[in-house]
Amino acid sequence: PLARSLSMTSLNGLPQWEDEDLPVEDLLLFEISWEVTNKVGGIYTVIQTKAKTTADEWGENYFLIGPYFEQNVKTQVEFCEPPNSAVKKAMDTMISQGCQVFFGRWLIEGSPYVLLFDIGSAAWNLDKWKAEFWEVSNIGIPFHDREANDAVIFGSLTSWFLKELSCQFDDKPSIIAHFHEWQAGVGLILSRSQKLPVATIFTTHATLLGRYLCAASIDFYNNLDQFDIDKEAGERQIYHRYCMERASVHCAHVFTTVSQITATEAEHMLKKSPDVVTPNGLNIKKFSAMHEFQNLHSMYKARIQEFIRGHFYGHLDFDLDKTLFFFIAGRYEFSNKGADMFLEALSRLNFLLRVHKTDITVIVFFIMPAKTNNFNVETLKGQAVRKQLWDTAQSVKEKFGRKLYNALLRGEIPDLNKILDRDDITIMKRAIFSTQRHCLPPVTTHNMIDDSNDPILNTIRRIGLFNNRTDRVKVILHPEFLSSTSPLLPLDYEEFVRGCHLGVFPSYYEPWGYTPGIYIVDRRFRSPDESCNQLTQFLYSFCQQNRRQRIIQRNRTERLSDLLDWRYLGRYYMHARHLALSRTFPDKFELEPNAPPKTEGFRFPRPSSVPPSPSASQHSSPHHSEAEDEDEDERYDEDEEAERDRQNIKSPFTLGALPQGKKKQHGEYRN
Ligand code: UDP
Ligand code: G6P
Ligand code: GLC
Repeated sequence: PLARSLSMTSLNGLPQWEDEDLPVEDLLLFEISWEVTNKVGGIYTVIQTKAKTTADEWGENYFLIGPYFEQNVKTQVEFCEPPNSAVKKAMDTMISQGCQVFFGRWLIEGSPYVLLFDIGSAAWNLDKWKAEFWEVSNIGIPFHDREANDAVIFGSLTSWFLKELSCQFDDKPSIIAHFHEWQAGVGLILSRSQKLPVATIFTTHATLLGRYLCAASIDFYNNLDQFDIDKEAGERQIYHRYCMERASVHCAHVFTTVSQITATEAEHMLKKSPDVVTPNGLNIKKFSAMHEFQNLHSMYKARIQEFIRGHFYGHLDFDLDKTLFFFIAGRYEFSNKGADMFLEALSRLNFLLRVHKTDITVIVFFIMPAKTNNFNVETLKGQAVRKQLWDTAQSVKEKFGRKLYNALLRGEIPDLNKILDRDDITIMKRAIFSTQRHCLPPVTTHNMIDDSNDPILNTIRRIGLFNNRTDRVKVILHPEFLSSTSPLLPLDYEEFVRGCHLGVFPSYYEPWGYTPGIYIVDRRFRSPDESCNQLTQFLYSFCQQNRRQRIIQRNRTERLSDLLDWRYLGRYYMHARHLALSRTFPDKFELEPNAPPKTEGFRFPRPSSVPPSPSASQHSSPHHSEAEDEDEDERYDEDEEAERDRQNIKSPFTLGALPQGKKKQHGEYRN
């Protein structure tokens, strides 16, 4: 029997559960999601960042299944032949029956195999597959719901593939299929109705009703048990989607959510508590020296500053060295993601900074994709003007340099008033003239398709944050995910995040949110106005920090990132897989009945820094003086700071999304 006893010994700081060692060489693991190679939101990040840990464990037996989109594949996938003969055979059967199935390596860390189904090429089966789905589930899909129809095609293809695959193994248990979200759920429902010998897991990253009800500004969390869920789903015309989600949850051998709050939500909205909470992690990059990421901050900040020089041309009457960059980013859900509250807090912050006559300027980026017709003219012009000024400065500098050089060769100090001639002055004057503008620096970088109904733009109009010279808070809506190939702001999101000073995510609805924060705004037990004041206070006190304090805070944040590494959090997925096997094939995969739940006893490594609250550092920072804003701060010794932190541990840091433990041991965090 594969069941082994639990061991909680820690090897190299990693928790070790012996019984989690599955005979992966005899198993195949499939993870199925609409966001495999296809970025929509956070699920893409979950799968993409987790790939390395999972591939390390499963090697050649790990496969991801997703939809085929030419554009995604071109930039992310390298085609190859499936090395596994059973997978190849199943694929070939489908291809011989007219489906387009692609196989390759996803070019991300861990380079896992991906199997991609072309939904369009199989769409001619839609009516048949909808009827079959109706037969087994009594869920009818309206013809106009494109996403739900795609989900039926994707699910039918997935279960067809799993069927072709599993019939090659007779009765030998060999397949685990892990489905993410309702868009992939049809595959699970069909696999179960066909009684395929597959251990299934379903993870929901949000509930449909949760998202919809919260977006409608309903007091959701305080009324979880009050909703007539069928009625709510029906009124919002998502009843069929809701049924797909709920059926997936109840059909799965193991159901998981990404956080405790979503577990509670699922209990009420989906009528089932998760078997395991599988929190999300990140693939944390370790730097050999702590100051490396501080250098990266400087480097990427300089790139953001360059963009700002162009965007605010003619209005650069603020000091870029005293300018802070804030941002909010993600799926464009105006109130769920807290963009509404953020804007309100920014309006209050603008007022505070103005009345206190601060010399700090705050520039806030909203990175939320919306429908657009590309960049707008004024934004492109800004960058062109900047480029022209740069070129002018370069050519004048070169001429100046040559004349100076020649003069020095002749043993003369040149007359600095004459070194530039009339033409040079004319060129420079012309360049300055080109920076005149008759409009304010634009609040959005793109032409918005639905400009007049856009909630961010409408709020900006209402609160009047128009990038006036007197505003200390300026806003820029960039309604497209960032990319290093953008002609406007050529940075990847991760680089942009490093270059900024503060990310602000005051979400109301957020099952996880790839946005761990070091200030927490309470949105559950306070009125919106109180939460907004709390947020304003955080923002204002952040603006009052000097450079040294910001450097310290960045050091601490970086050190804490270790807690979110998949190296640790991947354990919850392992446990979910083992549990699914033990439920599907109980005689082959037992779990010790008296063993405590596998996710208990989990030990995080002790972070090298456990910070006191950031505000405390404002006063406890040694030698606080104005001079600290100057360059010498930048050589601040991080090791010294880390050591002081270590000696000064005040309160344990707990990750809110994980179940709270009973016992705490010195120097480690039990959950
Ligand atoms: N993101 C991105 N590019 C950007 C801005 C954001 O790829 O320019 C990603 C970010 O990395 C994060 C995701 O968008 O992973 C948002 O995910 P989150 O889980 O926070 O929320 P969701 O949109 O899934 O509800
Ligand atoms: C990093 C760099 C310093 C730079 C500082 C700016 O720490 O190593 O050289 O001065 O960032 O920090 P700030 O918060 O002002 O952008
Ligand atoms: C969902 C949630 C988000 C979470 C992401 C990944 O899209 O909205 O909070 O981070 O999934 O689990």
